[in-house]
Amino acid sequence: MSNLPFPRIAVIGAGQMGAGIAQVCATAGCHVTVRDVDAEQAAKGKRAIEASTAKLVEKGKLTAGDRDAALARISFTDALGAAAQADLVIEAIVEDLEAKRALWRELDELAPPSSVFATNTSSLKVSDQAEVTDRPDRFLGLHFFNPVPLMGLVEVVSTAATDPGIVASATNFVRTLGKEPVLARDTAGFIVNVLLIPYLLDAIRLLERGGGTIADIDAAMKLGAGYPMGPFTLLDTVGLDTVLRTTRALFAEFGEPRLQAPAMLERLVVAGRLGRKSGKGFYDWTVVPPVAVEREK
Ligand code: 3HC
Repeated sequence: MSNLPFPRIAVIGAGQMGAGIAQVCATAGCHVTVRDVDAEQAAKGKRAIEASTAKLVEKGKLTAGDRDAALARISFTDALGAAAQADLVIEAIVEDLEAKRALWRELDELAPPSSVFATNTSSLKVSDQAEVTDRPDRFLGLHFFNPVPLMGLVEVVSTAATDPGIVASATNFVRTLGKEPVLARDTAGFIVNVLLIPYLLDAIRLLERGGGTIADIDAAMKLGAGYPMGPFTLLDTVGLDTVLRTTRALFAEFGEPRLQAPAMLERLVVAGRLGRKSGKGFYDWTVVPPVAVEREK
């Protein structure tokens, strides 16, 4: 415990990413406070952590004792002040710049000056958040990937103002989570999403043009290109709302036509078909195995 760079972690937001981040931090030995104002979301996050750790025990990747110890290190709160008392605060709320800036302003008042702030943004510039705090030197991006307990990468994003010592501690911290850090520049989308999002959008446009069915495009990329999941399974895993917000942020930054959101993506999000987390997206996840919804209506 004592050799952890950040022994006390606060995770703000108990959604898919927040729950996953809390889980991997607690499994590594950190004490984690998860803050969510929505009690239902907090309960959902707690259940996701329990289900994920149960699966890892079942697969022999975690002992039952280590699982119990990790779960005992996680607590939930709706009070930001309680969460702010941490060595590292990781933000995983909605991908909305103004919401994130408002959160950081509040946290900057509540947290001790020593606390380090990290955003898990997928697409927004870290500096646009850091600038509203009095600690831009202790502010960076830590971008995790979905599903967090299984994915081996974290993008570590520093701004021109981030203290190199903080970057070193954060990089070390990522390794203690059993993940590989890569250093990325503070440009929208960092490394992975700049490459991944256009590919996912192209898959949707291919479907819109009738270039293949959901099931066939997924099978094609899995078996023909060696991807671990096809693009539509991945879209549903990441969450279509998250993909749409990320797409809009990338379009705002780079303005390339290829980064414009396809109409089908917009329609599915408006219809509440967000993917795995809502039960339906390109696939119907309420049945086993999930079935591709080849017609929208
Ligand atoms: N915790 C524990 N287990 C989980 C889990 C979780 N959160 N999520 C899924 N699993 C389990 C499943 O239940 C399944 O269990 P089963 O075998 O008993 O059915 C198992 O993991 C899936 O195992 P598979 O044998 O199908 O696959 P692998 O274990 O070999 O790989 C994977 C799973 C690592 C998720 C792989 O499919 C993969 O790499 N997919 C691509 C994911 C990806 O690209 N993520 C990045 C998205 S981009 C992003 O997040 C950035 C954001 O900013 C947009």
